[in-house]
Amino acid sequence: MIRVENLTKRYAGQAAIRDLNFEVGKGEIMGFLGPNGAGKTTTMRILAGFMPATSGRASIAGFDIFEQSLQARTRLGYMPENVPLYGDMRVTEYLDYRAALKGVPHRRIAERVGDVKELCGVKDVEKKIIGALSKGYRQRVGLADALLHEPDLLILDEPTIGLDPNQIRQVRELIKNLGRQHTILLSTHILPEVEMTCSRVTIIHKGRIEACDTPENLLGKLRQAGGVVLEAKVGKDNGAEELKKISAVRDVTTDVDGEWNVFSLRVESGADVREEVFRLATARHWTVRELTQRRATLEDVFVEITHADEV
Ligand SMILES: Nc1ncnc2c1ncn2[C@@H]1O[C@H](COP(=O)(O)OP(=O)(O)OP(=O)(O)O)[C@@H](O)[C@H]1O
Ligand SMILES: [Mg+2]
Repeated sequence: MIRVENLTKRYAGQAAIRDLNFEVGKGEIMGFLGPNGAGKTTTMRILAGFMPATSGRASIAGFDIFEQSLQARTRLGYMPENVPLYGDMRVTEYLDYRAALKGVPHRRIAERVGDVKELCGVKDVEKKIIGALSKGYRQRVGLADALLHEPDLLILDEPTIGLDPNQIRQVRELIKNLGRQHTILLSTHILPEVEMTCSRVTIIHKGRIEACDTPENLLGKLRQAGGVVLEAKVGKDNGAEELKKISAVRDVTTDVDGEWNVFSLRVESGADVREEVFRLATARHWTVRELTQRRATLEDVFVEITHADEV
């Protein structure tokens, strides 16, 4: 549905995205993750036809976004980072206006607007002035707008930013439902959201793609960084040195919490060393208050990949 090849964008000589290559298949929900300034919005704006790239190619549903921009654009609905709504219009009035602008045939406008209001849960605020809506409802109106011309593909730039946890849950549910009928490219900072909703994740950092895989595989790659946490009093022992003698333990870092030592053990992929740690602790007469297997989250993957050269 989306194919991006060697896409590069420079602003005044400075590359915002460099040589991006990725594909999003029909029916996928692709998460687009990256820290501030990574190039997410830049990529999405180019795909949505809002600005040209410096070099490279991209296509939507087989249509080149630069050479067949009109055909490409009718297949996608774009919800920008800051939804540019007309604050003094009423919801229905605004959606009618947007539908006409997008070329929805006049006789179909009422029906389409009714459908998207239903789908996005804005029926109960349809007569309200947009400027008076809560942020969550405004996001929904933005989403309804993106859906008006029945696109197959949705490009959503941080659809849950600035929402409270309840609204986030609602918008996430909405996106998940939309994912049954649509292909979605979605950028976000909220990692659990990606884990829950996306079939694949692309991690972008400083304009480059650092990883692209299913959430499960990305987590699998990081299992070894999961490891074990041990909190213990070790008396005169050098706890870290003792723990390193366990063969599957790669590395041990030590924090001190009052009279307790907090050891973080990095272990070989797939290894569970808790039993050996427990036996060691018993043999050395350590007092243990916690021994846990730490499960890696997508958050860890993200930090691992993007943190390395952060200043
Ligand atoms: N109009 C512009 N002129 C010059 N530089 C820009 C412009 N827009 C973006 N940039 C730069 O391009 C880079 C990528 O920005 P972009 O907005 O795509 O990042 P992002 O991943 O969407 O970040 P955020 O998470 O903050 O939304 C940044 O270094 C940014 O400063
Ligand atoms: Mg952005």
